[in-house]
Amino acid sequence: MSRIAYVNGRYLPHREAAVSIEDRGYQFADGVYEVIPVLAGRLIDEGLHLDRLARSLAEVRIASPMSRAALGAVLREVAWRNRVRDGMVYLQVTRGVARREHPFPAPRVPPALVVTARRGARVPDAPDGWGIAAITWPDERWARCDIKTIGLLPNVLARQAAREQGAYEAVLVDGAGNVTEGAAANIWIVDDAGVLRTRALDPAILPGCTRAALIGLLQKEDIGFEERGFSLAELRAAREAFLTSATSFVRPVLRLDGAPIGDGEVGPVTRRLFALFAAHVGGKSNHADP
Ligand code: PDD
Repeated sequence: MSRIAYVNGRYLPHREAAVSIEDRGYQFADGVYEVIPVLAGRLIDEGLHLDRLARSLAEVRIASPMSRAALGAVLREVAWRNRVRDGMVYLQVTRGVARREHPFPAPRVPPALVVTARRGARVPDAPDGWGIAAITWPDERWARCDIKTIGLLPNVLARQAAREQGAYEAVLVDGAGNVTEGAAANIWIVDDAGVLRTRALDPAILPGCTRAALIGLLQKEDIGFEERGFSLAELRAAREAFLTSATSFVRPVLRLDGAPIGDGEVGPVTRRLFALFAAHVGGKSNHADP
């Protein structure tokens, strides 16, 4: 079965799907994107992702390509046409097609919308086997990492460095020695005093939808946590660490730069939060709501 993409109003097989060489996404990385998990045929936290898309578009002053309801319908249609029950939907909106000049096109051109879907991992039943190794890497990105732009070259280089060192994620560290986030995920720790922490939202990190959903679950379950950043030294000394993202869900970080975090096994807090999140997305869990 050939994969189907939505491209500017048409559903096309991938081999026929194309955008112009003058698309500003191609020329300038002048666009924003979302990755939305699909589990058991459902778009997970769709509202959070569409809210963040609207915010990203507003921050870079790209018009919305269609109404929220219409966009939701396209996302579902692309998932369905690709028979994706577990996987993800990818969408990107660029400022459109125009002769290459840095300022916005005048007169305005319509924004370009591409949506694809692909099969991927379903949430595993347990976090064992889901843990990863990470490396540390300098955060060399721009000053507005709160906008989900398609300009991901520093993230690409960081993740490639991780791969070349046999790791999955690169934990980004700023010039002051503080951890910002992963190259494609937010990061949390249980610090050496047992406090669950993640960095507060600021322009140095992406406001993750998985992070937001997990915070909602923590509040509902009355589980204590702090939105307080941490240094690389604190990460190295942490009892537990884990990532959150649309594709990682809650994913234990077991090793950092080759050394174990805590005892190098999935810790009790990570295990509990994994189960909570699995229940949230409808996976199997002992903690599932009635
Ligand atoms: N990445 N931080 C960065 C830099 C990210 O790229 C991502 C997501 C996150 C987590 O956000 P969310 O929980 O909304 O997925 C944090 C996606 C999955 C990607 O680029 O593939």
